[in-house]
This record gives sequence, C-alpha cells and structure tokens, in this order.
Amino acid sequence: MYKFLLPLILSAALFVANPVLAQGKAPIVINFSHVVAENTPKGQGAVLFKQMVETRLAGQVKVVVHANASLFGDADELEALRDNRVQMLAPSLSKFSAYSKQLQLFDLPFLFDDLEALKRFQKRDKSRELLRAMTEQNIYGLAFWNNGMKQLSATRELRLPTDAKGLAFRIQPSKVLDAQFKALDATGVSLPFSETLTALQSGKVQGSENAWSNIASQRLDAVQPFITESNHGTLNYMLVSNTRFWNSIPYKTRVELEAIIEEVTVVVNQQAEALNQKAREQVLAAGKTKLVSLTEQERAAWRSAMQPVWKTYEAEVGADMLHAAQTVNRR
Ligand code: LMR
Repeated sequence: MYKFLLPLILSAALFVANPVLAQGKAPIVINFSHVVAENTPKGQGAVLFKQMVETRLAGQVKVVVHANASLFGDADELEALRDNRVQMLAPSLSKFSAYSKQLQLFDLPFLFDDLEALKRFQKRDKSRELLRAMTEQNIYGLAFWNNGMKQLSATRELRLPTDAKGLAFRIQPSKVLDAQFKALDATGVSLPFSETLTALQSGKVQGSENAWSNIASQRLDAVQPFITESNHGTLNYMLVSNTRFWNSIPYKTRVELEAIIEEVTVVVNQQAEALNQKAREQVLAAGKTKLVSLTEQERAAWRSAMQPVWKTYEAEVGADMLHAAQTVNRR
C-alpha cells in the first residue's frame, strides 16, 4: 500500500514546494538554436545553460537546445528570433551587420592580438554598450561568448598574402570579411556555415577561415590540404534573446536566468581556448592537412595586406570604438 502511496506523496510535496507548479502554470520554454556541433565552445555553452536552468529553475523554465542548424540556419535564425519563433541564439558577430554596423568592428582583421585581448575588450563599457545596440530591433544582447582565433584553410599552401590571389573563400555574411579577401585579390563567397563543407568538397570555393573547433567538428581538414595558422581574426558570438520575450519573463526568474548566463559565460570563455587547442591536435593527428606555421615576418605581411580594411570601415564602426578596441592589445 505504502509502495503505491509514496510516489503520490512525493509529487504532492513537489507541487506544494514549487509555486509555479502549485499555480498550475506551464513552464516558460526557451528554444535555443545554434548552427555548430555540440563539442564546440558554443555547443557546450548551450548544454551547460540548459543544465543549470533546469536545476535552478526546475519546473519554471525549460530549455530546448537545437544544435547543428537543425531548427534554423544562419540565413533565417535572426528573423526567427525577432518573431519569437525561437527565444535564444548565439550567432557569430559577423552575422549581425544587417542590424548593427558597429558590430562589424569584430570582423576587422588583426584587431585583437589574441583571445585574452578580446576578453579584456569585452569587459569594457564600450563593448558592453554593443549588447544593447539592437534592442529596438527586438534583439537583446545577453553576453559575449568566444570561440577562438581564425585560421585560413585552402587547396594550396598560403604562406604569403599573394598566395591567396584568385582563390574563392567561404565567408560569413559580412562586408568586412568580403573586403578582407578582396584586399588579397581573392574573393569572398558568403555561405551558411552548414554549407561550408559541401562548398569546399565540390570546389565551389577553394578556401575558408574558421576557428579550430569548427574546422575539426566539420572535418574541413579532410577537404583542405593546407591550414595556415594565421590567427588573423577572432570568432566570437553574442548570446541574444528576443527583447519583448525577455522582458516578459517575471522579474525574479529573469534575474536568476541572467545570473546563470553570467556563470555560463565565464565557463564558456575559460574553456574556449582549451577546446580549440584540443581540436587543433585532433586535426593534426588525423594527418589530412599540412599545417603552415608563419614566421613573424610572414605574419606581418598578412597584417599589412589586410589591415587597410580598417580605414574603409572606421566611419561605420566608429573611430572611438576602433580606438577602444586597439587599447586592449599589449604590443
Ligand atoms: C561560421 O559561420 O563559420 C561560424 O559563425 C559558425 C559558428 O557559429 O561558429
């Protein structure tokens, strides 16, 4: 008898202890969609966010993670967010240029020396301002998440900028990235992340740029015989929600969600470097691609070839923003 009653007693206790369940309210559902694999900094961040929310806001908030562009892809995810068809995304900053010209800053080549410099910038007020840049457009910035430094992959060895001449590179939808490849007498072809591997396989493009974690998880190394460790740019994200949806969450719950996001962000940004390091080792161990390491002089040549792009975009990103970003390097 007791055996049958116990589950009933337990669920009644849970019901009373949890005010949301006691009022019979359905939990708030956050669909979190992203385009990368689970074993990447963003993929891991999404899983950790779900776990923490479901522990600390059990019964009140439910998080459903849709990885690998399984719900929305690069081309439609931001519009879906603005229409509240999905409630959370973490697109690369390169994907926001239709909504904020200032965010183009993060695409400028050789702007940050390393991830540490980027992290220093993300703590500055100037950078925090950018989280609110798209609020009116129903895109509410919650945090910056990092992946890693970008590397160049290609069908031929890229040691000097002139080696890239004539090649087509897959890029994210960004005018700055397009200009960056034009500066090399190459072409940028804007394609969704999910189409990158097939575009490289079919020869539609001959090169790409990405962080090690994305190269490894998509096995881009299997179709690109050379990877130049250029560290020429950063791949980083803004964790965003729909402004109206976010503000509609009851205050106490929202405060707790924001506290969780802060904790998850620390973990994501701490682990990003290690995850990229591991991905780099995996790629090298697979032996499909040749690593091209640059001397200081060679890297300087890439810098001088790409850096003129800054001048072109200075007015759009704001001279003050560009200046603030430069002060975080320790050169
Ligand atoms: C890309 O399109 O290459 C990246 O933005 C993918 C991602 O989200 O890391």
